[in-house]
Amino acid sequence: MINLKNVRKFYGSLEVIKGVDITVNDGEFAVFVGPSGCGKSTLLRMIAGLEGIDDGDLILNGQRINDVPPDKRGIAMVFQSYALYPHMTVAENIGFSLSLKKVPEAEIRKQVEGVAEILQLTDYLNRRPAALSGGQRQRVAIGRAIIKKPSLILFDEPLSNLDSALRVQMRAELQRLHRELKATVVYVTHDQVEAMTMADRIVVLNKGTVAQQGAPMDLYHKPENEFVATFIGSPKMNVIPMTATRQGGNLRLESAIGLAMDMSGAADIPQGEVRLGVRPEHLKIAADGQGNFNAEVGIVERLGVETYITVGTTKDPIVIRSDGDVAVRPGDRVSLSADPAACHLFDASGRVIRPAQAS
Ligand SMILES: Nc1ncnc2c1ncn2[C@@H]1O[C@H](COP(=O)(O)OP(=O)(O)O)[C@@H](O)[C@H]1O
Ligand SMILES: [Mg+2]
Repeated sequence: MINLKNVRKFYGSLEVIKGVDITVNDGEFAVFVGPSGCGKSTLLRMIAGLEGIDDGDLILNGQRINDVPPDKRGIAMVFQSYALYPHMTVAENIGFSLSLKKVPEAEIRKQVEGVAEILQLTDYLNRRPAALSGGQRQRVAIGRAIIKKPSLILFDEPLSNLDSALRVQMRAELQRLHRELKATVVYVTHDQVEAMTMADRIVVLNKGTVAQQGAPMDLYHKPENEFVATFIGSPKMNVIPMTATRQGGNLRLESAIGLAMDMSGAADIPQGEVRLGVRPEHLKIAADGQGNFNAEVGIVERLGVETYITVGTTKDPIVIRSDGDVAVRPGDRVSLSADPAACHLFDASGRVIRPAQAS
């Protein structure tokens, strides 16, 4: 459906999109996720035709559209700041693009009512934006986009201005909308939770390059590099510098902080400096002295259903995700164990050299 082939973008001499290859299939909900400044908005604006493409191919439904003007692409875009026309009603805002095209009044009314029903705005059609909540305004902005019946809808951080409860609700509504419209969606966010909860396919961006793309749980279980490993998942994966030495068929891993572990079936890993990745949910508090290492508890954060326990130094903290009622307090000595099969190994450059064996 949409293909980016070696796409590049420069602002002056600054290369902000560094040759990306991305495929989004027909009907997919794709999320481009990455930290602020990594090039998400630039990429989306290039797809929409609001920014030029300096190199590579942008292909929509098999046709190269690099030089097709924005209004001829059949693409709609919803921005983070959804400037609605304040003097127009909800119905007039949603129908505005059709009025511009001189569509007959009765036809506009019919289409606006259809869109309003999908977006649950039927009772608000005669209100002005000032009399709506944030979530309702965002739905009007979406209505303005979908009334054009685009085959591709682009969203640039559309939920960032909403409070957290409303964000959760809108996440569910956007998924429902995607199912009903059967349109292809490209959704941009810096929030990995939005990416994980909504996407069929996630594209993780880092400094203008694609760090990895795939299904949400594939990225969680099989990150190809330390960037993706620590970006996807919350609390984030712990990464601990270790020294690897061969002992028979096993790899002996030891860290400066006293963590030691034997990893079997890792005969192809070279000896020397490696980085061990272990998610907070894969660290367990072991019966006294039985774990891979002992540490003093620093911070205990109780969220109700689960508790996050931080051990180690403030510079190199290690976070454990435990039961809500776990009986630990700051200052306690605990013994921690990690299943070696659930651990990832990265080389010094952050490339995975041994993915987790269990999931
Ligand atoms: N018009 C511009 N001129 C120069 N640099 C820009 C321009 N727009 C964006 N940038 C730079 O390009 C990079 C990517 O920006 P952007 O796509 O907005 O990132 P994101 O949306 O991921 O936060 C940033 O380093 C930003 O400073
Ligand atoms: Mg942006």
